Amino acid sequence: MSNPSLLILAGDGIGPEVMNEVKKIIGWYGEKRDLAFDVEEDLVGGIAFDTHGTPLTDATMEKAQNADAVLLGAVGGPKYDTLDFSQKPERGLLRLRKEMDLYANLRPAQCFDALADFSSLKRDVVAGLDIVIVRELTSGVYFGEPRGVHKEGNERVGINTQRYTESEIARVARSAFELARRRNNKVCSMEKANVMESGVLWRDVVTEIHQAEYPDVELSHMYADAGAMQLCRWPKQFDVIVTDNLFGDLLSDAAAMLTGSLGMLPSASLGAPMANGRPKALYEPVHGSAPDIAGQGKANPIACILSFAMALRYSFDQGAEAERLEKAVEKVLADGLRTGDLLGPEGGSPISTAEMGDAILAALD
Ligand code: NAI
Ligand code: MG
Repeated sequence: MSNPSLLILAGDGIGPEVMNEVKKIIGWYGEKRDLAFDVEEDLVGGIAFDTHGTPLTDATMEKAQNADAVLLGAVGGPKYDTLDFSQKPERGLLRLRKEMDLYANLRPAQCFDALADFSSLKRDVVAGLDIVIVRELTSGVYFGEPRGVHKEGNERVGINTQRYTESEIARVARSAFELARRRNNKVCSMEKANVMESGVLWRDVVTEIHQAEYPDVELSHMYADAGAMQLCRWPKQFDVIVTDNLFGDLLSDAAAMLTGSLGMLPSASLGAPMANGRPKALYEPVHGSAPDIAGQGKANPIACILSFAMALRYSFDQGAEAERLEKAVEKVLADGLRTGDLLGPEGGSPISTAEMGDAILAALD
């Protein structure tokens, strides 16, 4: 059997810096855990534009379609701000998501004990928090037609359309229920069925899939605005939350901030199963290319490292190895090691990107 394949697209800014630490960890798994990957690297974003005149070449797209998983760093930077919309670095990422049809975006909000005081909420409310928001990523109001701005009489009108088909709701609901079965068997679905017809359909379809295929999972429903309040009040009542593209965008950002720094947040975007049973998958940190600290060795590599842990769990069925990596992260944080973004206003002495990566490697050993 050949090794599972990984396509690494480090991208721009701090992308290559944080990815460098992930590469060390991938090497460690091959050497110490007999878990080797066939790694290929390619370009995405601004660097791809500089090299090929496009943020993602067809050849790279093809490699992404065929890889067992794609690991992405970050794209973008001020240098590219004046480019035409179709050439912007972000278009490379959007093309990957669209053509791989990655409809389920998994955003964990996990609070490491050592960082609980870093949250804007009380330690008690966030310590030990471990929830996942599943956001529908390829449909809804960001894609629905009609859209645009036009003139009606003498004023302008802006239109976007929330549109969901039954099958689009069903497939992301299945992703959430499958995830729940690997966790604590609990899903809360959020929409606004009180004021939106698409929300009524959402609730109906999630309920139908639940009854027909996942009756063993505990399902509840909540209006998304109430859900936002509950996330701030007592987030630990949730385990898996499933919601649409727009609400998921907001709720996942809010939930993420319960736990502290952008430098800590991983994500997975999953699509339909491939012939080998693995889902199409792209793993990436939530943060961007951080041009303000790029090239200075200051970036926190943990978000990217935890994204690789998600790949181990969701693409390669290596849940125990994913946990090993998460435990290693937990240990270095408990030991007090901090990159600059994890130091509060009172300061302290930050370690570098590479020092953080090396400390995690040492903790793995
Ligand atoms: P950003 O996430 O790059 O940075 C926001 C702030 O958080 C900055 O102060 C940055 O230094 C800090 N930060 C982010 N990641 C960090 C890390 N790992 N360690 C330490 N500090 C970290 O968002 P911003 O500044 O809005 O965007 C910068 C560029 O990135 C833009 O070109 C934007 O379009 C792009 N971007 C790309 C994304 C992606 O590739 N998925 C997502 C968001 C933005
Ligand atoms: Mg967002």
